[in-house]
Amino acid sequence: MFLVAVVSFVIALASAGLPPTTKDVITIQSQQHPEVSISYKKTCICDTTVNAYAGYVHMPSSYTGESYNASLFFWYFEARNDPEHAPTTMYFAGVPGESSTYAVVSEGGICTVLGDSATTEENAWSYNQYSNVL
Ligand SMILES: *[C@@H]1O[C@H](CO)[C@@H](O)[C@H](O)[C@H]1NC(C)=O
Repeated sequence: MFLVAVVSFVIALASAGLPPTTKDVITIQSQQHPEVSISYKKTCICDTTVNAYAGYVHMPSSYTGESYNASLFFWYFEARNDPEHAPTTMYFAGVPGESSTYAVVSEGGICTVLGDSATTEENAWSYNQYSNVL
């Protein structure tokens, strides 16, 4: 009976379809470490006045020395003021495994989630006011 339930669940998932293939992803190889690559795409969250990108740094186990491949997620937000000449700040949220989403929508992030949990407003004191933020 359990097996029938599991098979039914898998068939239901399969018929629901997979997420659409990601489009407009750019992948570049590291020049110093060709086995390492970065894939990213332009994105839009909260603050539509700046260029923003989301992606992964892909590091194979042969590079890290670990028993698994690692893909580290990142978000990059250009500074609201003079991004070409602004410094870049690297912001690491919390502890290993903590989602960076929280940092983006709170603290010094680019926006704040409003009380209705569905809308956001720009954070006027965001780190990306005068700095590009990774
Ligand atoms: C890491 O990724 C490569 C390329 O996709 C794959 O051939 C390899 O099996 C993966 N290694 C591990 C430990 O998952």
